[in-house]
Amino acid sequence: MRTAVHADALSARDASVRLGGRVVWEHLDVAIASGEFVAVLGPNGAGKSTLVNAVLGLVSLSAGTLSVLGGRPGERNAEIGYLPQRRSFDPALRVRGVDVVRLGLDGDRWGLPWPGRARRAEAQRRVEEVVHLVGADAYAERPVGEVSGGEQQRILIAQALVRRPQLLLLDEPLDSLDLPNQSSVAALVSRICHDEGVTVVMVAHDVNPILPYLDHVVYLGRGGAVCGAPADVITSEKLTRLFSTPIEVLHASDGRLVVVGQPEPPAYHAHRHQH
Ligand SMILES: Nc1ncnc2c1ncn2[C@@H]1O[C@H](COP(=O)(O)OP(=O)(O)OP(=O)(O)O)[C@@H](O)[C@H]1O
Ligand SMILES: [Mg+2]
Repeated sequence: MRTAVHADALSARDASVRLGGRVVWEHLDVAIASGEFVAVLGPNGAGKSTLVNAVLGLVSLSAGTLSVLGGRPGERNAEIGYLPQRRSFDPALRVRGVDVVRLGLDGDRWGLPWPGRARRAEAQRRVEEVVHLVGADAYAERPVGEVSGGEQQRILIAQALVRRPQLLLLDEPLDSLDLPNQSSVAALVSRICHDEGVTVVMVAHDVNPILPYLDHVVYLGRGGAVCGAPADVITSEKLTRLFSTPIEVLHASDGRLVVVGQPEPPAYHAHRHQH
């Protein structure tokens, strides 16, 4: 495990973002230490992806401050692994999983190329290592377009990890996965977080698959935001205040949380768990 380099992986003080003349969220205070696993929750349109974009420096704050790995947003992007929302591969795509992972090394996004031919073997070793880490050995040589959604997700997580990031930003990585795959990808990300000392910020639609692993949650809603330990934030009182409407948090006997009320909070869709 690597030692923590940054005491504060992420820190926001009274941060706000406006887009198209409208406040997306405001008064966001966040303090995330290195190596923590954080969920970003909130209904559709609450500004979860906007927060990820702000961390990457792609969206500017309209007020407040945001520090990322000790620098300004955008400054340390080479140390951030990023998995954007809603990715899918064309079934006809012949590119292999290992090639997709390798793209993460080749600096396609941030222009920091992996040094030339001399280090090819090293690059190859790192790709193999990270493919193994996410448990994708069995299908990484196959065309990525023909492996399953859950398998593609692991390949993409490997791609985000291949440069040994300090911070992993995953925008709805569990989206479109079945429940067993949600659980196993959640467990995988938690293992990476602890074993590799990577800070993980995961946008999630349903908190339940990741609930056992979380250190913090950032809950966005109605322009406001709450950040804290899951048990302190996901409460009837806090969510009722955040959404200015009655919301009830029910605790199922198996440990799941069910949030009842309008507007629909991040779909702790009861029906998704009734199979
Ligand atoms: N470039 C833009 N200009 C104006 N408004 C924008 C822009 N980008 C996003 N928005 C708006 O900002 C709000 C937050 O969008 P965002 O994508 O961050 O939400 P989200 O929480 O990630 O939603 P989802 O759960 O659907 O992914 C939405 O109302 C969206 O329409
Ligand atoms: Mg989004």
